[in-house]
Amino acid sequence: MWVQLLRRVTWLAAAGLLGACAFSPTSGQDPAPRVPYLDDASFRRAELEASLVNPSNAYSQLRLARYASGDGADWERLPEWNPPVEPIVASELDAPGGASTTALSRRAVPLALPATVASEDDPALVALGELAFHRYPTQVGAYFGVGLTSRSAAARYGLWVDETRGVGGLVRARMADGSGAVSLTCSTCHSAQGAEGDLVAGLPNARLDVGAATLAAQGVPEGAATGDPIAAWGPGRVDVTTTAGTEPVRIPDLRPVRWLTHLQQDATVRSRDLTALAIRIETLIITSGDQVVRPPRVVALALAAYVRALAATLPSPDGAARASPRGAAAFASQCAGCHIAPALTGPPVPLATIGTDPTFGLSASRGTGAYRVPSLHGVGSRGPLLHDGTIASVDALFDAGRLAPSFAGRLHGSGAVLGHLFGLTLGAEDRSALLAYLRAL
Ligand code: HEC
Ligand code: HEC
Repeated sequence: MWVQLLRRVTWLAAAGLLGACAFSPTSGQDPAPRVPYLDDASFRRAELEASLVNPSNAYSQLRLARYASGDGADWERLPEWNPPVEPIVASELDAPGGASTTALSRRAVPLALPATVASEDDPALVALGELAFHRYPTQVGAYFGVGLTSRSAAARYGLWVDETRGVGGLVRARMADGSGAVSLTCSTCHSAQGAEGDLVAGLPNARLDVGAATLAAQGVPEGAATGDPIAAWGPGRVDVTTTAGTEPVRIPDLRPVRWLTHLQQDATVRSRDLTALAIRIETLIITSGDQVVRPPRVVALALAAYVRALAATLPSPDGAARASPRGAAAFASQCAGCHIAPALTGPPVPLATIGTDPTFGLSASRGTGAYRVPSLHGVGSRGPLLHDGTIASVDALFDAGRLAPSFAGRLHGSGAVLGHLFGLTLGAEDRSALLAYLRAL
């Protein structure tokens, strides 16, 4: 165990991924260390501007108008929100009628925030980030009450049940009027049970069915044709962009975020540094909460530090290369130009080059005209694949049969899954070696 862990740490260090200390103590007259994201609004503004790839899409426009803008519209004027919360516990599902959606117990407490943060590398940040990932109320989601009536209801809507972490990452949070409200946390969407049944933070919850829960909470009978676009989301997909709900994307794997050059599947945000990620998370929480409150900035920074630290939970590609040297060679010749080592990702690819469904890449909300290249770290243990989650696994992605209209394996809709034609002409032996390599990543 230790050896494995050490190997991973060495591998991350070799790849230059363990951040160098940003504030090395030097001479005696050095001012107290500070974290500019926490202390300096003009720094935040400059970082935001530098991180937006397409300043004219709606995502960028909203942030340029409201984030550290220094005027009356500035989100910085919103009150900070760190309410008492309590995770919903697995055994509550066994009570008659299920878990309460409104009554808070005495166990509900706010997150304990550190008085000071010495630097971006302060270990207290990652610890706070882990807590916040599972407890901070990111988005009120009363509709998930339909999944809290029993264990089978939780399973129906894809809420995981974990004896330690609770039910689907859902919490009860105290609202301004004193009532409790069911709220999602990051781990509702971004944690799932792995192959061994253990809860894996960062792994996308491919079973979570936000669309079905929303419709059920509105009393729409299951399977009824409503014409509502959210009926087409299906498990593992959410529209986090439009109010109409017409642009669902798969929930991405957060474990490889540290490697990414760009955040969001249509490459909306340059992943320049920890601050760019913290701003992405801070503004997500503000918009998910209807722009009436904002998270304490230290919580956003801690979440960013924790998400980046998840990279250490993934295996090293050296193991995959040992398991399948021939697969590693096929990868080097056909794939490594875009999935560039050691990150196994690289600059975004124009929509016409990649050829997958361009709808999301052209989105007026988030589009940039390109898709970002997913880092393949962790690809062997996640699914579904592609930005729209239309393909179940690497096996199906490298099966040329998916290009035919008669393809039966498409998720979310029927027919062919087009684009990403790389590797489809490999011979049978190279193909199976490549798959063995990818499954071990
Ligand atoms: C309702 C489900 C949901 C919740 C809750 C949620 N996310 Fe996400 N998250 C998504 C989806 C869907 C995307 C993909 C968006 C896109 O590609 O444009 C995403 C994208 C991201 C990304 C970009 C990853 C990448 O691969 O580019 C990060 C980072 C992230 N989320 C972090 C968080 C954090 C931290 C929280 C908690 C504060 C959180 N998310 C809460 C669904 C969710
Ligand atoms: C021209 C650049 C390019 C090349 C070459 C390329 N890829 Fe990709 N790859 C991409 C992009 C961009 C996506 C995302 C497409 C989307 O989401 O619509 C992607 C997606 C993937 C995915 C899905 C990952 C996920 O999490 O959804 C896998 C697996 C993958 N590529 C493996 C490979 C392999 C193996 C090869 C070589 C046979 C290869 N790629 C060659 C750019 C490339």
